[in-house]
Order: sequence, then C-alpha cells, then structure tokens
Amino acid sequence: MSTMNNPKQLEHFQSSWNITKLVTIFIFLIFMSYLFYTIGFLAYNNTSHQFDKNPNILSPIKYQIEPIPKLPLEQKTNISHIVFGIGASSKLWNHRKEYIKLWWKPNITRGNVWLDKEVKIKPSDEKLLPTLKISSDTSKFKYKHPLGIRSGIRISRIVSETVRLRLENVRWFVMGDDDTFFVTENLVKLLQKYDHNGFYYIGSNSESHFQNINFSYNMAYGGGGFAISYPLAVALERMQDRCIERYPKLYGSDDRIQACMAELGVPLTIEKGFHQFDVYGNAFGLLAAHPVTPLVSLHHLDLIEPIFPNMNRVQALQQLKEPIKLDPYGLMQQSICYVKNWVWTVSVSWGYAVQIFRGIFSARDIEMPARTFLNWYRRVDYNGFPFNTRPFSRNACQKPFVFHLFNTTYDVAANEIVTRYVRVQPNPNCKWKMEDPTQIHMVEVYKKPDPYLWDKSPRRNCCRVQPRNEEGILVIDVGKCREDEVVEL
Ligand SMILES: *[C@@H]1O[C@H](CO)[C@@H](O)[C@H](O)[C@H]1NC(C)=O
Ligand SMILES: *[C@@H]1O[C@H](CO)[C@@H](O)[C@H](O)[C@H]1NC(C)=O
Ligand SMILES: *[C@@H]1O[C@H](CO)[C@@H](O)[C@H](O)[C@H]1NC(C)=O
Ligand SMILES: *[C@@H]1O[C@H](CO)[C@@H](O)[C@H](O)[C@H]1NC(C)=O
Repeated sequence: MSTMNNPKQLEHFQSSWNITKLVTIFIFLIFMSYLFYTIGFLAYNNTSHQFDKNPNILSPIKYQIEPIPKLPLEQKTNISHIVFGIGASSKLWNHRKEYIKLWWKPNITRGNVWLDKEVKIKPSDEKLLPTLKISSDTSKFKYKHPLGIRSGIRISRIVSETVRLRLENVRWFVMGDDDTFFVTENLVKLLQKYDHNGFYYIGSNSESHFQNINFSYNMAYGGGGFAISYPLAVALERMQDRCIERYPKLYGSDDRIQACMAELGVPLTIEKGFHQFDVYGNAFGLLAAHPVTPLVSLHHLDLIEPIFPNMNRVQALQQLKEPIKLDPYGLMQQSICYVKNWVWTVSVSWGYAVQIFRGIFSARDIEMPARTFLNWYRRVDYNGFPFNTRPFSRNACQKPFVFHLFNTTYDVAANEIVTRYVRVQPNPNCKWKMEDPTQIHMVEVYKKPDPYLWDKSPRRNCCRVQPRNEEGILVIDVGKCREDEVVEL
C-alpha cells in the first residue's frame, strides 16, 4: 500500500486519466478498509480494556446453568402425541396384563395391545387397559431361525399396523412388550428433546455384550421399548413387508426392525433410560447406579426378582407409584455423599433405595453398577457386560447396608418430598471396630421436586447428611449441587 502511495509511481500512470481514476478509487477503498479495520481494532481494545476493569473478574467464575429456553407448552410433545404398540401373547396375557395396568393411564395414554388371538377380558379390566387388537395373519412370511418363534414377524409389524390406523396428532410410535413397565412422564421428557418431524429410531442396547454381538449394537432391544418418529414409521410402513421377506433367518421382532432401519439408513439413537434387562437375579445393582438420564422403562419383569424385598413383582413396582407421581424425573437418580464422623459412604437412589457402606469409596466406584445380577448366560463374570461393573462386596464388612423405600410423603408448605427407607436385610457378620450402620433403622431423604432436571446439562444431584436429631434415623438432603460442591470428604 505504501509503494502505491508513492507519487512517483502515480506520475507514471498520468498518461491515462481513466487509469488514474481507477487507481484513486482503488486506493480510496484500501484506505477505507484500513480505516475501518483500525477503528474496529481500537473499539475492540476499548471493550477488553473495560472488561479488565470489571470488578466481577475477581469473584469466582460463575457457572450456574439455567434451564434452556423452552418451546411454548402447546408445541411441546406431551403424552397425547405418543401411540403405544404393545406386543403381547395370549398365553401369558392373564398375568402380563397386570404389568400393563401398572403404568397405563386410561383416557390419557393412547395405543393398543396386539395379541395373536382373542382373550377373555374382565369388564373391570377393560377400563384399565389399552384396547386389544388381534395382529393380522403373517403365515405368508417365511421364518427360518432354528431356535426362535415366528411371532417375531407379527410383533415387528405392530409399527406398520399402528401406522395404518391413521390416528391423528401422532408424533411418536413407542413399541414395548407386555412385560415392559414404562415411566411415561420420563418417556415424554426424553422425546421432547427430539424433533418428531425428523427420522428418529430411539432405544437402547442389551445389558449383555454377547446379545449385542449376536444381534446388533445398532439395534433397539424391543422389550426395553423404542420410539420411532412419525415420518420414519410412515417410511417403514411403506417398505416393512418387503423388508421382512428379505430376512427370514432373523430371530425376533426387534432385529427385523433394525434390519429395515439399516435399509432406510437410520441409525439407532441410544438413550440409556430404556432398560432391556437381559439379566437374571436381582437388578438392584443396575437400578441403584442408574445412569444420569431419565428412567424410561424396565423389562423382563418375570425374569428378574421383584425389585423390592418381601413383595411380589407387581406390588414391588407399585411401590414406585408415589415417587413417580411426585417427582418422576428424579426416580432412581443417584447421589453420593459421606458421613464424615462415622467414615461411611452413602448412596441414595432416589425413590428406590439408600445404601450405607463402611469406609470411604470414591464416586467413580459407587456410580458403577454392583454385580447383584447374573448376565444373560447366568454367569457373574464382569466381561459379559458392555459397561463397567464392580463386585457387590468383597467381604461381609464391605457389603452395603441396603434400605429400600418404605413410604413417601409430600410437604406442601416446604415443597419437599420425604422418602423413607428401611432395611430388611440381616446384619452382616462383621467384626470391624468402626461405627456400625446396624444402629440405623431408617433413612429419611428430603428432596424438592425438580421439574427442570432434564432441561439442564446432565449432572448427578448432591446429597448431604444432616446432623442427627433422632436416634437410629439418618437424615439426608438431596438436591441440586451447590457451587463448588463435589463428592469429597
Ligand atoms: C398436548 O399438546 C396438544 C397440542 O399439540 C394440546 O392440544 C393438548 O391439549 C396437549 N395435551 C396434554 C395432555 O397436555
Ligand atoms: C374414559 O373416558 C370414557 C368416555 O369419555 C369414560 O366413560 C370413562 O369413565 C373414562 N375412564 C376413566 C378411567 O377415566
Ligand atoms: C450368542 O453368543 C453366545 C456367546 O458367544 C453363544 O454361546 C450363543 O450361542 C449365541 N446365541 C445366539 C442366539 O446366537
Ligand atoms: C411414613 O413412615 C413414618 C415413619 O414410620 C410415619 O411416621 C408416617 O406416618 C408414614 N407416612 C405415611 C403416609 O404412611
């Protein structure tokens, strides 16, 4: 630029007035851009200078995370936008229907149970259950898996059969089995994150690494339930019958869905709150260390032990009713803290159980599921799971003291939920000379409902052990972590 400004060089161009004019305009433009740049630079310096002087810079960095701006209520996905398709078998209907009654909300939830043939239905049940439908005949489809049963074809077609009902105002089709328990509030909350106008296939894998290898890591396991957005379900309906014909060797219904999703090119969006529960025994370890995501479903209710002691399976799930009613988003959410004086670690799985461990365990240990369950091949070895696990206990003294939900009350004035937990487990045979949790007969947990829990970035709640005011009762406060609050002693 400085060379072009040289008057000697400019003289050289005087032969043509036009060229001079052009060059002048050119120089002018360059000069202007330089000017603007300089002004911009000065302005920038000025603001940063002001920023330096801001006294706020000396106070701790603020990282408070506020709920993200939300859609107006009328645009947000609600329960009426979801249509359920529940795969059921007439043989097991009589007891499996009790699981559906636990979560089905008559006149609120929409959808159908799809059966292979007619079943008797009591008039008293009719009001409490979805309308039953009989799946259309699938005998024309080939089925060639040596071990599976061909009802897989029928159940995979429930999506298409539901689409063909041409129901109005549907955003999502949600599939599940007759032994799947849904927490519908959490399902709605989860689906609100996704644009129902796009193609979405949302669900979760199996807890068995080998199941995931044999079937697919790209597959939503049907019993855990999965959601298909409306336009994707429509696209699937158009091709599903042709697609099913191409995979006669597949085992079940969910692998048939996944095969068609692969043809449609739609990947699985994994949401860990759907629980296939391909495990045997006591699911306690998985539930007590639930991932930081809303609990959407539980499956294999006949295979796993009742989730509360001394109850049958249906009663045990009923026990979750109050926590779900008062604060569904917080259900099973874990928080970890210590009782400093007694050197105990406490883990709260809100609305479900509290554990007290002798000694100090780090958060990274306690947030890992304890292997209270067997894997799909009825073994306890850790390498069968596609996630980290830890042993339930190495010796009697390290076995946690487990308190299960006993009752739930809501204090309107304080806007606080009190959940109480008691222990039924026998005292361990432990001779450690340290403060003994057998003295605790009840744990009381205070928590405010948090309707915005999942509108923020995921984070575990914090818990704080309160000074003891009554003999034998451990009082704990659970809630949003305060500034600088971490799990440390
Ligand atoms: C759900 O949203 C629709 C608008 O899409 C609204 O008309 C309806 O009242 C809402 N239903 C519930 C149960 O909130
Ligand atoms: C559902 O709605 C129907 C018709 O509006 C009504 O007769 C029935 O009592 C309702 N059922 C429940 C459980 O509210
Ligand atoms: C799945 O994998 C396991 C372990 O590799 C194997 O033993 C089993 O036969 C497989 N099952 C099926 C249904 O393919
Ligand atoms: C819950 O249990 C506590 C302690 O036993 C008792 O005082 C309270 O009345 C119970 N509340 C309900 C609603 O059952």
